[in-house]
Amino acid sequence: MRIILATITLGLIIGCSGLDQTQDLSPKGAFIDSLLNEMTLTEKIGQMSQATGSWETTGPVIKDPDMVDLASNGKVGSFLNVFGAKRTRSAQKLAVEQSRLGIPLIFGYDMIHGYATTFPIPLAEAASWDLELIKTSAELTALEAAAAGLHWNFAPMVDIARDPRWGRIMEGAGEDPWWGSQVAVARVEGYQGEDLASLSTIAATAKHFAAYGAAEGGRDYNTTEVSERTLREVYLPPFQAAADAGVATFMNGFNDLNGIPVTASELLVRQILKKEWNFKGFVVSDWASVQEMTDHTIASSDKEAARLALLGGCDMEMVSTTYREYLEALVDEHPEFITHIDDAVRRVLAIKYDLGLFQDPYRYSDPEREAKLVLHNDHFKHARAIAKRSIVLLENRNQTLPLKRDLSRIAVIGPLVDDKETPMGTWSAQGKEENVTTILEGLRLAVGDQTKILTSNGCDVNSSDKSDFKKARSLASKADVIIAVVGEEALMSGEALSRADIGLPGVQLELLQMLKATGKPVVVVLMNGRPIAEPWMYENCDAVLETWHLGVQSGPAIADVLFGSYNPSGKLPVTIPRAAGQIPLYYNHKNTGRAYDPSERYTSQYIDEDHLPQYPFGYGLSYTTFEYSDLSLDKPELHRGDSIEIEVKLTNTGAFSGEEVVQLYTRDLFGSVTRPVIELKGFKKVYLEPGTSTQVSFTITSDNLRFWDKDLNFRAESGAFKVFVGPNSVDHLEGEFSLID
Ligand code: GLC
Repeated sequence: MRIILATITLGLIIGCSGLDQTQDLSPKGAFIDSLLNEMTLTEKIGQMSQATGSWETTGPVIKDPDMVDLASNGKVGSFLNVFGAKRTRSAQKLAVEQSRLGIPLIFGYDMIHGYATTFPIPLAEAASWDLELIKTSAELTALEAAAAGLHWNFAPMVDIARDPRWGRIMEGAGEDPWWGSQVAVARVEGYQGEDLASLSTIAATAKHFAAYGAAEGGRDYNTTEVSERTLREVYLPPFQAAADAGVATFMNGFNDLNGIPVTASELLVRQILKKEWNFKGFVVSDWASVQEMTDHTIASSDKEAARLALLGGCDMEMVSTTYREYLEALVDEHPEFITHIDDAVRRVLAIKYDLGLFQDPYRYSDPEREAKLVLHNDHFKHARAIAKRSIVLLENRNQTLPLKRDLSRIAVIGPLVDDKETPMGTWSAQGKEENVTTILEGLRLAVGDQTKILTSNGCDVNSSDKSDFKKARSLASKADVIIAVVGEEALMSGEALSRADIGLPGVQLELLQMLKATGKPVVVVLMNGRPIAEPWMYENCDAVLETWHLGVQSGPAIADVLFGSYNPSGKLPVTIPRAAGQIPLYYNHKNTGRAYDPSERYTSQYIDEDHLPQYPFGYGLSYTTFEYSDLSLDKPELHRGDSIEIEVKLTNTGAFSGEEVVQLYTRDLFGSVTRPVIELKGFKKVYLEPGTSTQVSFTITSDNLRFWDKDLNFRAESGAFKVFVGPNSVDHLEGEFSLID
């Protein structure tokens, strides 16, 4: 079978040896066209189809009869959920050595925050505001994946999320389009590197295209109604950033957007992605989202679903089989469809070519590399480094933290104190509990012999059972300080895991109230996949650390912060509401005609809840204090093509060295459409020793001020602007300037 492929390759060599001067094809283009000319329609449709491996990795050899049939007869071009050097080699042999043309398979998998070494969930990493470390997590994920025979990561998920009821808020970078775009680029570059053919890189996927996070009610898979302006202003920027960064593939989603399932959206895929953004990679559907268009009632049959998806620009169908079953018939009825099919196949073959799979289909399936690189100790060191930087200090009354190391008794109470599954969060791929260091283990490693650690779960994560309260109270009463470890289990956020009530589950709040009643200092360590609305906890406990789900090194990272080995520097990438009833609640909102004014009844507010969030976007404390002063702009007017330099003096006025995320925001005071009251435009993460100062500078041009105007043109409008520099989206120094045409 490989003879045909070899012949094509030989033909390519001759064709590109300069003998035929008329053809101006790159080697890759010539190779793909030659191969395409050899393919039957059935084989082409095979490349547009992806099947899932059997969920249980039943050993290193593929025996599942369906998989054997699919691979060896060229009925699929890809598997997902097939991983491991031996298992992928076994599947690849079926395709390469038994199918007629021997076209290699591409193996995809969800490695949202790590392959085997589990890093913090993406929302946690977004709180680190450390793009280099975020990129490193992606690089190490790719390194382990590529060593385990995988070629393609269904990540980064770049959906903007303004609704913490939505379980998949944990999977992205939060609520801001600008920050989400920066993180998207860091992750794409981390996964893909400079060369997809490198054995340390894999193809990435920007997903879920698009506006999946706008699901009504925060209910996963639900309807999304988003104006084109909001789509382009809020939900598309991270996708465009990923496309501009060269992401290899896109994945669409389950949602219908303004009445059209995104899987069949010609506006999104053909118009915006492939035409406006000139995207050359391929688009894969989300799990059965092609066939689910019958459930959306936009397709009256699977055949109609296949037609809509093909016309909508979906190049590969994941798991459902409408392409395999109906595309040949559709081509018979509509011969012109072959152009869409050829375009899709070219896109798929191009990524396989870029991965080097035609040169050596087995290059990634190397058991020796796998054994050497997966779970390498250096990856755990990185996991700890980014985990501690992802922690956000929300409260620290009376400088309760950092804890002294010579405490005689520490009570560690709560349902998550020694839980090995929760720190891995959802989408943990091949993460294994035995590789997780819990917070209890981390504390034991951090304290000396003079410190006794007393521990009790106190209650379950999500039950009404309070039978362990008595023991917990008894232990807590003997301690110098109580560390309460509460929050959500791994599978209380993620796909199909939305919550209507985003408070602490079960009786955890009552546990905290009982612990507080002992009169001992209570330090809350919150483990969660979404913002938790729990005002009493935040307003009554002595200290609160937002630790999300931090991966394999959760315990040591949290201990580093609790004992001050690391001064927390995290800042919230999402707003934390006081109540689910406030949702959607996000920082870059519009002013309205009746902005909130507590002294005025007829303004935008609740009669039964505060108008403001518990904590705003960008918020996070430190063990030290930072003072912002002397904000200056080098000119009051900005002319197009010119720039404004903005400077602020930052001083560490406290007793600890530490890092501060200095944030730059702007406000467009008037526009042809209503404009947000504030928008993030930049940040700098700055380290300062106590008592020292530094100048922090930013540059703004008119390009930074562009938006989608009333005619949906992307441009900056002249007029007055404000600029804000500070520690979060609420507290800041203010300046102003005018953009002049
Ligand atoms: C899931 C998810 C998607 C994932 C895919 C493959 O349903 O929506 O993010 O990549 O299926 O597992």
